[in-house]
Amino acid sequence: MKIKFFGHSTFLIETGSTKLLFDPFISGNPKIEDKNISDILPDYILASHGHSDHIADIEEIAKQSSATLISNYEITSWYGNKGITGHPLNHGGKASFEFGTVKYVNAIHTSALPDGSNGGNPGGFVIWNDEGCFYFAGDTGLTMDMKLIPMTCPKLDFAILPIGDNFTMGYEDAVIAADFIECNKIIGCHYDTFGYIEIDKQAAIKTFADRGKELILIDSGSTIEI
Ligand code: NI
Ligand code: MN
Repeated sequence: MKIKFFGHSTFLIETGSTKLLFDPFISGNPKIEDKNISDILPDYILASHGHSDHIADIEEIAKQSSATLISNYEITSWYGNKGITGHPLNHGGKASFEFGTVKYVNAIHTSALPDGSNGGNPGGFVIWNDEGCFYFAGDTGLTMDMKLIPMTCPKLDFAILPIGDNFTMGYEDAVIAADFIECNKIIGCHYDTFGYIEIDKQAAIKTFADRGKELILIDSGSTIEI
């Protein structure tokens, strides 16, 4: 799978011929120089929760690409009122799409939408197909529920975890999360975007390496392949 990082928690993952865009927050990201989103044309947009640093660019990108939004029921309904096609999920449920299976899993966080509407409860996604299986955690603290992922999903090839602390788990807890989900290849996100979540990146990488795990920090705008 090809994984492009736009900064914060925004990733474009290409699997087969399908493009999946996660938590689009580009035009308002103070750390991104190239804020142009007019050429981003995903097939699906996946939103972990209702906070604006995860959904700010959904409306524009969904309208220009006709992408289908996959999120919880409350968020897909809120965007449905804006004319965007959605597929609603709720915790513990999975659904099959032409690109693979998506399961909506627990996250410990909050999820109010920008206008104060109820954004449901926040979640993460586990996605699998013939190419592999990965976990996009969204914003979450460390939770014992992560232990359910290896019990209920195929073996993870990689996982995208928040490591910036303050609003989510920090990298010290993310190492424990990697143990819970039985995955040694972790891509970090949700760090350095604002003052509250600035981290020592070398210390984070070392914390993972000391536990026999790999922490991958992708430069904003770069693509890797796993
Ligand atoms: Ni959040
Ligand atoms: Mn966030």
